[in-house]
Amino acid sequence: MKAPIAAALFAVTASIAADPQLIEKGREEEKRQCVACHGLRIINVQRLPRAGWERELDKMIRWGATLNDRKALMEYLVANYGDDKPLPAPPLSRDASKK
Ligand code: HEC
Repeated sequence: MKAPIAAALFAVTASIAADPQLIEKGREEEKRQCVACHGLRIINVQRLPRAGWERELDKMIRWGATLNDRKALMEYLVANYGDDKPLPAPPLSRDASKK
């Protein structure tokens, strides 16, 4: 009888983590707070586990980034750029796209 309870708890936790409104707030937070020093691409090509994103945010804050909504940004990063997500396609050079 333990497994169904664990499964139900997991489902609840997963649905909280995937709250689309929170993730959307996180996307806005990234656009506001993460572009002062570099573009979004350097962020969005990463694939990190949750702990990796926590460390990454700590590092950016040490370097001068400010955050208004760390929780939303974290959920957005984990939902889109977690280490369970497929790697982005490598950018094509101009020559390759011209053929
Ligand atoms: C105060 C300047 C600054 C701000 C603001 C900033 N970063 Fe950075 N970030 C850097 C620097 C400097 C690098 C190294 C850049 C390079 O190698 O070209 C970097 C690199 C990165 C990398 C690549 C991996 C790494 O650690 O080098 C990621 C991911 C990243 N930043 C995420 C973020 C996120 C998310 C935010 C918004 C919370 C953010 N950054 C805001 C300065 C900043």
